[in-house]
Amino acid sequence: MNLSVHLFQPEDLLACVGLLQAGHDPAFSSARFTWLHQQAPLGPSAIAVCTDGSRVVGVYSVIRKTLRLGERSFVGGRDVDPVVHPDYRGRGIFSRLLRFGLENFEGIDVYFNFANKVSAPGFRRQGWRDAGPIEDRVCQLGFRSPLSRDFLIWLGSGAIVSPRPSADARELTADEVEALLTRADLAPDSFAVYPPPARLWVERSSAYLRWRYLKNPQTGYRWFAHGAAGAEESVAICRHDPVKNRLTVLDVLGFGRAPNLALWLPLWRRLFPGAWVGVWSTMPVSSRRGFIANPLRRGQGHPLLVRSFPRGDLPSTIHRPDGWFLTHGDLEVA
Ligand SMILES: CC(C)(COP(=O)(O)OP(=O)(O)OC[C@H]1O[C@@H](n2cnc3c(N)ncnc32)[C@H](O)[C@@H]1OP(=O)(O)O)[C@@H](O)C(=O)NCCC(=O)NCCS
Repeated sequence: MNLSVHLFQPEDLLACVGLLQAGHDPAFSSARFTWLHQQAPLGPSAIAVCTDGSRVVGVYSVIRKTLRLGERSFVGGRDVDPVVHPDYRGRGIFSRLLRFGLENFEGIDVYFNFANKVSAPGFRRQGWRDAGPIEDRVCQLGFRSPLSRDFLIWLGSGAIVSPRPSADARELTADEVEALLTRADLAPDSFAVYPPPARLWVERSSAYLRWRYLKNPQTGYRWFAHGAAGAEESVAICRHDPVKNRLTVLDVLGFGRAPNLALWLPLWRRLFPGAWVGVWSTMPVSSRRGFIANPLRRGQGHPLLVRSFPRGDLPSTIHRPDGWFLTHGDLEVA
């Protein structure tokens, strides 16, 4: 083997996508790679590429995101999709890529990820620490039979949802989403009341939301609002999986006041009868009333791994799940 590691160059793109398809997920396209790593508001991702001769055999990438803690801002590095070719695994290539990134990626105050079982040991060996787990909180809007497990969750959640949709809760059209984001452009602090000031969160500027949800080439999202047209007070961005009948709430935004998911539950029950609605435990309780821990999956959460640097001057709370406000929107990058 003749291994070496370099910073990503534009001519690596096709080989990196080919490796991601062969070693991670065949659905990962060039369009996704370009969107994810070259179009984010803070600029191109930091990417380390490992080659054996001229063959690309490993890739590790980090998306730069603005993190906010009250009035302070940091550059967060969201580690995403590390991959080593199946023929080359177990030989320390991932560890080498991580060390290269830590030495060469510039300007990142804190790295964070939601590693899976195969990549978590490598991150931990290079200094990432467990800050999770992050658990699901669920509202079951119906059930198949009184013997199903849906029934148990429904009893504790959906059964107590008000039967009448709020007159001000509605789904937004594409034009209304555009108008909403234009309004946020005009008043850039409009989302700032949310989340609580003591939690670190990925800033939801209108530029970020446009990139994250409107430009994503692989996934379509549904936007729900509460409040009068043109003066919406809160917004929920969701993805519905019709096969599993799951509505995942990726993000909630408040214009002037903290949002409350209960406002949309009756509407969602009408649009998605019997659906499972999911958010994360890191969303403040006041916004997810009516959502409960899945009694069958207690303690089985997603790991949150965090690595910071002394120069970042970040508080020690970043190593606890309640030091963050994270959503499914921070996890999902498909
Ligand atoms: C995850 C992946 C990138 C790891 O690549 P790799 O080159 O085989 O990993 P490495 O050989 O560098 O091993 C990483 C480190 O974890 C350690 N490690 C691996 N499995 C371990 C385990 N079960 N327990 C403890 N340590 C473990 C290794 O010893 C190594 O540490 P070291 O270099 O200090 O010895 C590779 O398995 C892959 O491409 N998987 C498929 C894609 C994927 O799922 N990516 C993760 C998406 S979140």
